[in-house]
Amino acid sequence: MTFTPRAAWADTPEPVRTAVARALGAPIAGHTDLHGGMSPGPAAGLRLADGRQVFVKAVSADTRVHNHAMIRQEAAILDILPATVPAPRRLATVEHGPWIAMATTWAPGTTGGAWTDTSIAAVAEACRTASRHRAPKALPPVASRIFYFDGWNSLPKLDTSDDWEKSHAGPAAEVVAGWERWTAGDALVHRDIRLDNTAVSDTAVLLDWAYAAAGAPWIDLAQLAADIVATGHTLGPEAANDRAYRLLKTLPTDASRFVVGLAGMWTIRAATVADTPVMPRISAWRRARAHALRPLVSRLITHLG
Ligand SMILES: Nc1ncnc2c1ncn2[C@@H]1O[C@H](COP(=O)(O)OP(=O)(O)O)[C@@H](O)[C@H]1O
Ligand SMILES: [Mg+2]
Repeated sequence: MTFTPRAAWADTPEPVRTAVARALGAPIAGHTDLHGGMSPGPAAGLRLADGRQVFVKAVSADTRVHNHAMIRQEAAILDILPATVPAPRRLATVEHGPWIAMATTWAPGTTGGAWTDTSIAAVAEACRTASRHRAPKALPPVASRIFYFDGWNSLPKLDTSDDWEKSHAGPAAEVVAGWERWTAGDALVHRDIRLDNTAVSDTAVLLDWAYAAAGAPWIDLAQLAADIVATGHTLGPEAANDRAYRLLKTLPTDASRFVVGLAGMWTIRAATVADTPVMPRISAWRRARAHALRPLVSRLITHLG
């Protein structure tokens, strides 16, 4: 499901599109708008006159400053990832007035709207491959890329909190406590593994590297487990919970604590961060994820407590 409506590539100012073509070294012969992801700017597959297919995303700082900064940040990160990391390669970045556009190599494959056992296996393998790399020195500690992990602490103070949240917030907060310490490490961490940040063919490519960091090597697999439940599995919620739990059982217990932290993040952000005109359904998206994770969070808390 698409929660953030993306602009069309054709509506990107002409000088930006021309500068992208110039930077890529070939005219743009055709394009297909893409609708996945969480940003309001356009994302598209471009067909170049020389036959190449590339990916491009763009945004104006006037639309949302945060996404402009994230494209710049991702461009710098893609340039320092080792070639053996399953990631797209940056081909060009263009800045024009408030606009930024970045083109990368095309990652073949589709993922649809929900996880399958095949896509889980491929993405898990890609996460393992990525995390076997030591994080490049320029990447910050993952604690600086983790937000609202203290969400469970502030939840009981909100009058929006329901009975489930009231009874689980305390034990959940205890499970997550000390996260700055137990998430630390020197492995390469993508930190934003979600179905819409992957391309799956025979193997998987991890997309959207803006939050990459140095941290514990199990973080991306923990995030995968959380996303299987939050985004869903084609076979339904029971299968999603089963696959997530089985994946977590292969990881250190800190990975389960991480999932509880993510659930707290979505819960507190849904309750406290309002929708905006460019992100009109973001709080419903966060609330749906937090709700989907409740059974898994209950189980993990019992297990860890
Ligand atoms: N290199 C790529 N090749 C093919 N499709 C891609 C590529 N990168 C991203 N996509 C598709 O475009 C969507 C948006 O890209 P993404 O980098 O995730 O942007 P955002 O920062 O807006 O989330 C993704 O959900 C994915 O479907
Ligand atoms: Mg994305």
